[in-house]
Amino acid sequence: MGQEQAISHLRSLAASSTYSNMIFLGPSGTGKTSAAIVFSREILGDTFATNFKHLNVRDLRYYSVAKAKRSLQSLAKLDRHERTELDEYMSVVFQAAKARLKAKGQKRAPNRSQLLLEAIRFFASTITVSDELVKILVLDEADALDMNMQQALRRTMEIYSDACRFIFITPSITGWSPAVISRSLVVRFPSPSMEVIESLVTRIAKAEGVKIDNDALVAIARESSGDMRRAINILQVAATGSAIVTEDGVYECSETQLVGEVRRVVTLAIDGQFIKARKSLRNLIAIEGYTPEEICLEIERDITRRPFDSAILSQILDRVATINHRILQAKNPFIQLTALLASIGRIAVSETT
Ligand SMILES: Nc1ncnc2c1ncn2[C@@H]1O[C@H](COP(=O)(O)OP(=O)(O)OP(=O)(O)O)[C@@H](O)[C@H]1O
Ligand SMILES: [Mg+2]
Repeated sequence: MGQEQAISHLRSLAASSTYSNMIFLGPSGTGKTSAAIVFSREILGDTFATNFKHLNVRDLRYYSVAKAKRSLQSLAKLDRHERTELDEYMSVVFQAAKARLKAKGQKRAPNRSQLLLEAIRFFASTITVSDELVKILVLDEADALDMNMQQALRRTMEIYSDACRFIFITPSITGWSPAVISRSLVVRFPSPSMEVIESLVTRIAKAEGVKIDNDALVAIARESSGDMRRAINILQVAATGSAIVTEDGVYECSETQLVGEVRRVVTLAIDGQFIKARKSLRNLIAIEGYTPEEICLEIERDITRRPFDSAILSQILDRVATINHRILQAKNPFIQLTALLASIGRIAVSETT
């Protein structure tokens, strides 16, 4: 819903089968991943199962080499819930990367970024394609590719351009290599309007037999900030345990755990309780499993909701931007986030003195 332009664009590409590499650009929960899957099914038909792959770049970037070293045989001995499809894929990729590097004279095992590039190259190069059809490789969260990776990727795109189409999914292309952008068609998925979200929520509520009044509908549309997935989640939680969704109910359940936790962490940092703030931050990442990027984004939202004067606010947001950028490049994003907390504390203190 609300993506008529993207849909008609993709429809005509699918009909003419002259599609190139693509970049799906837009904020969270606007239908990018769903569209990539639907589009690929349409193009690939019966060969979808073998000629389609969806890889999350962030998962690949943080995939540990030690895990990838496990052989398929040893993975097979694990319980089904202890191994994922990605585990199996990365085990194969590890062997491929090792063989390639060995052929080039490198004796060491592949490192993380070599593993990531091989994960991309491997699918593009090896899976057989039935006559005239192509393969489609979806690289989700492609904003996590740094410049070096993009350079290497560009070569892969060129070498396998006959056989494999890439769909990159990303919230932004600032900082992307022009070489990659120029080889791709950009399809935009803008944030839907309040009306579109309201009609989506209305439709689902109706289908599920949930009563929702107009104020609650407006509240969901507002709280979801253009994220359809979030709108659906809020509706679902608000409808749990009561068949009537009210405005109060929506506000009660729309505060996620992350929002609450980040507010506590930032408050601690502002109050000068840096050690405590750092500890809670560590728990958020290590125990709750939030990614550093989503925490950074939530810190930014939290900061803008606080009553700072604009000079202080702009100083802090400037830091947020720097740290956000560094997180994408850094080996240890936790260190970057603690640095951000330290800055917030320092800048906030300067306001009161
Ligand atoms: N345009 C839309 N119309 C209807 N439902 C939508 C739309 N966009 C998203 N949704 C709902 O939200 C869910 C998540 O959408 P999807 O994963 O495609 O979003 P995304 O753009 O890939 O988000 P992210 O950037 O967070 O990965 C979908 O399963 C669907 O239920
Ligand atoms: Mg997605």
